[in-house]
Amino acid sequence: MAHERTLILCKADAVARGLVGEIIARFERRGFTISGLKMLKVPAELAKRHYAEHEGKGFFNGLVEYITGAPIVALVVEGEDAVEGCRSTIGATNPIKAAPGSIRGDFGQTIGRNLVHGSDSPGSGEREVALWFTPAELYPRDHDQKEWLVSA
Ligand code: RTP
Ligand code: MG
Repeated sequence: MAHERTLILCKADAVARGLVGEIIARFERRGFTISGLKMLKVPAELAKRHYAEHEGKGFFNGLVEYITGAPIVALVVEGEDAVEGCRSTIGATNPIKAAPGSIRGDFGQTIGRNLVHGSDSPGSGEREVALWFTPAELYPRDHDQKEWLVSA
């Protein structure tokens, strides 16, 4: 296992539908820690840099509008294998195919309103944390009960 940081976004639909607390609780309950958190209306330039890998695809403009149209909540979540762990808690990209018990599987219907973003690799996590948060906005810490979460 490796200690990782991942960027989580509660997208505009999650905020509008009042699901932010429910979503954050799932990461906390799994034993990950929150080391950064803020609410913001995303500038188009930031949305385009964040999703640069999808530029040119048919859904790109709609994706940018979705992310920038209403406020979102951004978090940095940390812990052992946090990238893979948070992706599994989030569920498959298309909520209709996402497993029940995952966030998308429990609350979503359609790929264009899939509630949450999670970094897809440790490298993406580091890139995205640096894109969304300054070092002064981060409060890294180990979980208080780490020895009960992670075996040696
Ligand atoms: P995310 O980056 O938001 O965590 O989602 P993901 O890794 O599961 O999926 P990704 O392939 O990176 O797609 C990014 C987001 O673009 C929207 N999308 N729409 N209409 C479509 O076919 C389509 N495909 C992707 C989704 O909001 C997806 O989360
Ligand atoms: Mg992605």
